[in-house]
Parts: sequence; structure tokens; C-alpha cells
Amino acid sequence: MADLTVENLKMHFSGVVALDGVSLEVKEGEIFSLVGPNGSGKTTLFNCISGFVTPLRGTIQYGDKDILCIPPHRIIDVGISRTFQNLQNIPYMTVLDNVLLGNHSGIGNRETVRRWISQRQRKIEETTALEVLDFLGLANYEQRYLSGQPYGIQKLVEIARALVSRPKLILIDEPAAGMNDQETMEIAKIIREIRDDLGVTVLVVEHDMSLVMAVSDRVCVLDSGTVVTIGEPAEVKAHPDVISAFLGEAAVA
Ligand SMILES: Nc1ncnc2c1ncn2[C@@H]1O[C@H](COP(=O)(O)OP(=O)(O)OP(=O)(O)O)[C@@H](O)[C@H]1O
Ligand SMILES: [Mg+2]
Repeated sequence: MADLTVENLKMHFSGVVALDGVSLEVKEGEIFSLVGPNGSGKTTLFNCISGFVTPLRGTIQYGDKDILCIPPHRIIDVGISRTFQNLQNIPYMTVLDNVLLGNHSGIGNRETVRRWISQRQRKIEETTALEVLDFLGLANYEQRYLSGQPYGIQKLVEIARALVSRPKLILIDEPAAGMNDQETMEIAKIIREIRDDLGVTVLVVEHDMSLVMAVSDRVCVLDSGTVVTIGEPAEVKAHPDVISAFLGEAAVA
């Protein structure tokens, strides 16, 4: 089974503790959420898993592979991809070209994409990209330039770019941030479909607790780089430290 196992992860930035001994396991096929206040280390954990930063200590295994030393542009080779909290789309490129970049992390513009991949390879990748756009309800958007598209569409393109490499595990950082209630419900549906229809394990960071409670098999609460608790949504909701520290009575009512 390709479970993700994080053990005793530590990361500091110039003395600021971002992760302080984080251990958790995401089982294949799970929708696993990471929650916690601003600055609690959620994105740093994503950055460690996807190779953008190297932790000071600890281990990260995916299946039987040690993935700690895999650089970000190679992480899709082991079946892991991610979205970014701050959109990393390129506005002057079309939706399709933005999605295609997900096959070539580290390549930064359309000309480079065109030069590096053969026409035949591009056709294959385009077919997958169009399927992913269709899956996300973005059929007919492929030739539109990203600039000028509503924020909600740009967020979906970010997810499409992470799906185009056909990952087995996707890390999604704050998909509902900046979304209205209806868009948030749509995101919840998409997260379930990514797991149920595409068979992709989902690790999601999110502040919207109604979304987290609705979609998650298990939830991990982080605070100041440490794990407060991990459990099923109902258990986490009832945990006294979680109620007092993060959610508040009203938020979990
Ligand atoms: N590249 C960096 N350089 C310096 N400090 C950093 C860096 N990345 C993260 N930090 C610090 O590490 C801590 C954890 O940040 P992180 O971005 O992981 O939090 P987060 O839980 O994702 O927060 P948010 O909910 O606001 O996105 C914070 O104190 C942050 O300022
Ligand atoms: Mg973050």
C-alpha cells in the first residue's frame, strides 16, 4: 500500500519553529485534512513532502520509498503532486498550457514547453489535460487566457495542473480560500470525486471547517508545529483542546 508516513519532522526558519516533531500517516485512499491556525506549519509540511524545503530532522516515506531527497521537479515521478496556497498559474498563458505545466514542473513558459516536448507527446498530454478539465467542469475553457478568468476558475486550474500528471497522492493547499459558499460546496464535491472517481489519495489543508468536517476521513490538528490530535472528524470536533483553541463552540455547532 502506498501510505504516506511522516515521522518526527522538524523544521526551523532562522529560529522560527515551523515543525516541531510532526508524525502522521496518510493511508492510501484517504481524504486526510490538516487544520490549524495561521503559521502552525501546514504549508511547511506540504513543502517538506513535495521537496521544496528539506527538514532539519525526520523522515518521509511514500509506500516503500524514502522521498525526503526527491527535488520538487521530480516528485511527480513517484506519483505525488500539489497545489499552491498562492496561485502559481501563469496569467498570460491559456488554461490548457497552464494545465500542461503540471507534467513539467520547473519549466516556466509556453515556448519552453513547446520546445521540450514533441508534437506527439504534446498530443498525448493534451488529451489527458482535456479529460482533467472536463472532469473539473472546465470543458471549453482550454483556449481561454487565464488572465481575466474569475478567481474560482483559476483555483480549479491550479487543481487541474496538479491532476494532469495522474498522481496517486495529491496535496491541496487551501482550495476554498477566497471562495463563496456555493464554490466551497463545489470544492467539497470535487475533493470527493478526486478520491472516489480517480482513486487519488487526498491530503488537504483548509481553514473552512464545514468543508473539512464534510469531506475528511481523518483530520490532523496542528498548533505551533506540533500535532494536537489526529482522528475522525467527530472525534476531533469533540476534542477539548481543539474546541477551545481553534474552532470555538459556534464553529462546530
Ligand atoms: N520560507 C520561509 N522563511 C521563513 N519563515 C517561514 C518560511 N516558511 C514558513 N515560515 C514560517 O514558519 C511558520 C509556519 O508557516 P506555514 O506557512 O507552514 O504555516 P501555515 O500553517 O501554512 O499558515 P497559514 O494558515 O497562514 O497558511 C510561520 O511562522 C512562518 O512564518
Ligand atoms: Mg499555509
